[in-house]
Amino acid sequence: MKLIVWDHVLRRGAYMKKILIVYYSLGGNTKSAAEYVAEGVAKGGAEPVVKTGTEATPEDLVSCDGIIVGSPDYFGYMAGGLKDFFDRSWFPAREKVNGMPYAVFITCGGNGEAIGNVVKICRRFKFIKAAQPVIIKRKPMGRDIEKLITLGQTLTGKVNANNYHPGEKPLSGHKYLNFLHNRLKWLRSIRYRF
Ligand SMILES: Cc1cc2nc3c(=O)[nH]c(=O)nc-3n(C[C@H](O)[C@H](O)[C@H](O)COP(=O)(O)O)c2cc1C
Repeated sequence: MKLIVWDHVLRRGAYMKKILIVYYSLGGNTKSAAEYVAEGVAKGGAEPVVKTGTEATPEDLVSCDGIIVGSPDYFGYMAGGLKDFFDRSWFPAREKVNGMPYAVFITCGGNGEAIGNVVKICRRFKFIKAAQPVIIKRKPMGRDIEKLITLGQTLTGKVNANNYHPGEKPLSGHKYLNFLHNRLKWLRSIRYRF
């Protein structure tokens, strides 16, 4: 029993979760939104991997622990460059990503109708919704920025709290030592508290 507890204490946080932020943007609004979302992911304690739909590969999807999808609304649909990512990923990845936590953000000129088809595709991949979608008008400003940062933080919090971790990678040598050092400091501080 003791061993199990120690294993849990030592292993918790030994992995840095990776969140894929995949988006597309012709005019820059969605790119800017993706950067704020990435800020939220980093604040939440995970590694953001930011790629456009045409850059991202099925391997990027399979090796991440959560996904945040960002699209502009083009003609009431998601951007073609983002759809391209999903199309390429379907056969190689669909059976490996069931249950992956996801979130969505949309930038639009009108009401952000594209949200419907992004959510539909995420459901086909059997991703699990981990945060409310964020829809913003054109370039993110003011409150929008906070919402996007919070979106990144919220999804990261869910990813860190649940057991979905197909992409977990062990820390490299010096990072692992650092982690052990910090964990021992924390254990010592608990001892002095009681
Ligand atoms: C080709 C094109 C089609 C668009 N169609 C819509 C639309 O149907 N509904 C809407 O709300 N906004 C529409 N917009 C506005 C964009 O969704 C909005 O400006 C978005 O922030 C652009 O994102 P981007 O700068 O990342 O490309 C359209 C923009 C473009 C360029």
